[in-house]
Amino acid sequence: MPEDHFDEPVAETYDEYSGEMFQPEVVDPVVDFLAQLAGDGAALELGIGTGRIALPLSARGVPVHGIDLSDAMVAKLRAKPGGADIPVAMGDFATTTVDGEFSLAYLVFNTISNLTTQDEQVACFENVAAHLEPGGCFVIEIELPNLQRLPHGERFVVFHVGDTHVGVDEYDVATQGLVSHHLQRAPDGSYGRSSGPFRYVWPSELDLMARIAGMRLRERWAGWKREPFTSESTKHVSVWEKPQS
Ligand SMILES: C[S@@+](CC[C@H](N)C(=O)[O-])C[C@H]1O[C@@H](n2cnc3c(N)ncnc32)[C@H](O)[C@@H]1O
Repeated sequence: MPEDHFDEPVAETYDEYSGEMFQPEVVDPVVDFLAQLAGDGAALELGIGTGRIALPLSARGVPVHGIDLSDAMVAKLRAKPGGADIPVAMGDFATTTVDGEFSLAYLVFNTISNLTTQDEQVACFENVAAHLEPGGCFVIEIELPNLQRLPHGERFVVFHVGDTHVGVDEYDVATQGLVSHHLQRAPDGSYGRSSGPFRYVWPSELDLMARIAGMRLRERWAGWKREPFTSESTKHVSVWEKPQS
């Protein structure tokens, strides 16, 4: 089982510190996009967390199931209205199985990168494919590696400077390793430091993982409103499809 980087202290402040990601202008396009793909079927969220997307998607009438390894994050989901009604399997989403077939599986907010090896990321695609019905779709939302901002020989890229938060990414280009370092100001004015490991991954590599798992790329956008994906894009929303036969 991978290490849990979303334990009690993180879960306690997750919704507050990710506040922008909970705003209707961010959430609504995600839910529109996913509800359309789910159609009359059910959806499986890998890394369901505190239910930022699962709850509004469920409120749209899509039956949502989840997988997560953090008891603390899922406890926050459970405490929200409707949260106790969403079935969640506890475990690693690269390997954990749930009953049922799904028209949609999704993994948002860069969470595929929480799997820190290529083998684990491939296993995740294979696990998803095993849960999808024929014609079902797998959606990933992830930022592009910020390597155009990394001069040769350097390791650090500042990705956010705000009143209460400073974020610095540390790259290891030899291993596609990425450690995100955060300095966060607490309500009492003190600063806490945390660091979390990721594996950055390119769109083409994700396409290959999908192919290994028997899926093929159906759509790739720069955002949830289907903005065109170009060489200037900083993130992508990609959809792979399990063939009908
Ligand atoms: C950045 S949060 C995203 C939560 C939610 N999807 C959202 O958009 O707000 C990542 C979530 O994925 C979970 N997670 C990370 N790696 C995991 C793994 N290998 N297996 C299961 N859950 C994992 C964490 O516990 C956390 O709840």
